Formats: sequence, structure tokens, C-alpha cells
Amino acid sequence: MHSAKKLRLGVLGSGKGSNFVAIAQAIQNGSVPAEVALVVSDVADAGILQHAQERGIPARFIPPGAFRTKLDPTAEAAFIQALQDAQVDLVVLAGFMRILKGDFLRAFEGRVVNIHPSLLPSFPGLEAWKQALNYGVKVTGCTVHWVDQGVDTGPILAQQAVPVLEGDTVASLHQRIQEAERTLYPETLARLADGAWPVKARSIPNP
Ligand code: GAR
Repeated sequence: MHSAKKLRLGVLGSGKGSNFVAIAQAIQNGSVPAEVALVVSDVADAGILQHAQERGIPARFIPPGAFRTKLDPTAEAAFIQALQDAQVDLVVLAGFMRILKGDFLRAFEGRVVNIHPSLLPSFPGLEAWKQALNYGVKVTGCTVHWVDQGVDTGPILAQQAVPVLEGDTVASLHQRIQEAERTLYPETLARLADGAWPVKARSIPNP
């Protein structure tokens, strides 16, 4: 049974937004009892912003500042403010390519989830599908996990295995993993929204 109050999601992404689209569709067809309150991107022309706008979902570009892999302090404060103003219960990272730490994680303590394109703890970091192909594993996949102060280290919520096939290229393997992500992320969010795991259950230590 779905609880009466819908979980308010704040979705952060830097890219084309296929995970966001899958989540938005799952919400629309009633399988995820949540609503997307806001989409934020650090990339002005990211596809995810356009997908949100097409669906009438508030979408904002917030400039990330001078750093390449993280938000600068001004940007971090602006991200926090935007998500708080939208009264977000859960922050959903959907291809957000900057590392979130410190103030951001304290503001949303135990309320940030991420999807990563490998079976963690194997292949954290960038282009995990490429790492898997280069390593020669026969099975890889995707992982939904809580975000903690490390990089792709938080407690695992759900995983889906994906085979690596003979003749796979970086592109074909990435595509197969992304297909799995489009099922795994909405399913996991549905379980979260239904109370399978308490949101705000974890404590994030100070750095
Ligand atoms: C997804 O494959 C996601 O797993 C990955 O970025 C892609 C975003 O695609 N995330 C990471 O690598 C995070 N470390 P999308 O914009 O089409 O959802």
C-alpha cells in the first residue's frame, strides 16, 4: 500500500537524462509513489533539463564554478538552497558527474541516492562500463546506493547484473547497462517511497 504523502524527489544530472526519463515515466504510470519537485543540472544544455521542461517539471541550471570534479562553495550553497526551497525529501543522482561532499551531504544527511554503472565495489569512478570491458569481466551491471563521503562507496540498496558478451564494444556494453538502469532505478525508488528503507536513516560523519 502506498503511503498518502508522496516522496518529493530532487533529481540531479549532468547528461542526457535517460534515467530521469525512466523515473518520470514510472511516476506517471503510478508505479513510483513520488513526485519530481525539481531537476537541477551543472551543465547548461544537458538533455535532462530539456526532458524535465517537456514534462512541465521545474528545471534549473546552476553554474558549478571553477572546479572540474566538484561544486565550488557558492555553487554548493545554491544547489542546497534550490533543493530545500523545493522541499525535497530525497536527492536522486541520475548521471550527476560531480562529487558531493561536506555541506551538501550534511544538508541532506542520509537522503541522497545514486546509480552507478557497475556492480560496486568493482569499478567505482568514471566510465565504469569501459573499466569492466578493459578488465575482461564476464558479468557487470549497475548499482543503486546511498551516497556517503566516499566516491561510490555508500551502502548498496539494489543491484542488477548485466552480462558482458563476446564482441561487446564500449558502446554496446554501456547501452546494455543503461537498459538495466532504466528498470533498476525506478524499482528501487518505488521501494524507497513505499518505506522499504527509511529515508534519513544514516548519519554522515564530519570530514
Ligand atoms: C548513467 O549510466 C549513470 O549510471 C552514470 O551516468 C549515466 C547517466 O546517463 N553515472 C555515473 O557514472 C556516476 N558515477 P543518463 O544521463 O542518460 O541518465
